[in-house]
Amino acid sequence: MSFLTVENIVKDFGGLVANNNVSFTIEEGEIVGLIGPNGAGKTTLFNCIVGYHRPDSGKVTFRGKDVTGFRPFETNRAGIGRTFQIMKVTTGMTVLENVMVGSFCRTNNRNTARGEALHVLGDLALDAVKDYYINELPIAIQRKVGLARALATKPALLMLDEVASGLNPTEIEEVVELLRRLNSAKKITLFLIEHIMEMVMKVSQRVIVLDYGEKIAEGLPADIVKDENVIKAYLGEKYAQGL
Ligand SMILES: Nc1ncnc2c1ncn2[C@@H]1O[C@H](COP(=O)(O)OP(=O)(O)OP(=O)(O)O)[C@@H](O)[C@H]1O
Ligand SMILES: [Mg+2]
Repeated sequence: MSFLTVENIVKDFGGLVANNNVSFTIEEGEIVGLIGPNGAGKTTLFNCIVGYHRPDSGKVTFRGKDVTGFRPFETNRAGIGRTFQIMKVTTGMTVLENVMVGSFCRTNNRNTARGEALHVLGDLALDAVKDYYINELPIAIQRKVGLARALATKPALLMLDEVASGLNPTEIEEVVELLRRLNSAKKITLFLIEHIMEMVMKVSQRVIVLDYGEKIAEGLPADIVKDENVIKAYLGEKYAQGL
């Protein structure tokens, strides 16, 4: 039994098949990358797994439990955390309050939620910005707050949608180190969508490739970069842009 099993997921947006029979598994403790061109269906697949979308067909099993059709708060409670590609700028909320939204997944007690949010903020070295409104902060910090909010839900599986996008090389390096630490020290299984090839190929143990809603390849990063279908569908264009 795999940690996460995704079987034949189909998601059709009125004739646009964003996910077409996608199947794969993730084992506990792995770091798996999800890549593919814009519009390939990566975010849709995340949304189908966590319950932001209900797949038209297919099945999602997490730690032996059928979670297909669960609502986001239910998959969250089951142990699946996620960050958002388009950050939900909650203008009226401070960093601390944003992270407390995550904590409330596990508790109804405001003090407990606050304590846990402060703990996560401390762990990510975000204490100094806890009282800032999130939209006043640089993008790298905003992304880290998004990560903190997901971590506050205490996920066993953390799904990251382009967590490094818009960051400079030094900031990307910091994110890589942080993800490795979460994986090794906190035993969090990671599943990440990323367009930055140096980052995703470096941090992932295995990579899944989507194109036009279909899985076209899956394997070790070293094999994926040599895969002709992947080069044709996606990497060729990336290499032409100098990655
Ligand atoms: N809620 C929606 N309603 C209708 N169509 C949608 C919806 N969400 C996504 N799509 C369409 O589904 C396809 C896949 O979109 P998706 O956002 O999953 O791609 P992606 O691989 O995450 O792309 P990117 O790398 O640009 O983030 C696109 O053609 C998109 O326009
Ligand atoms: Mg996307």
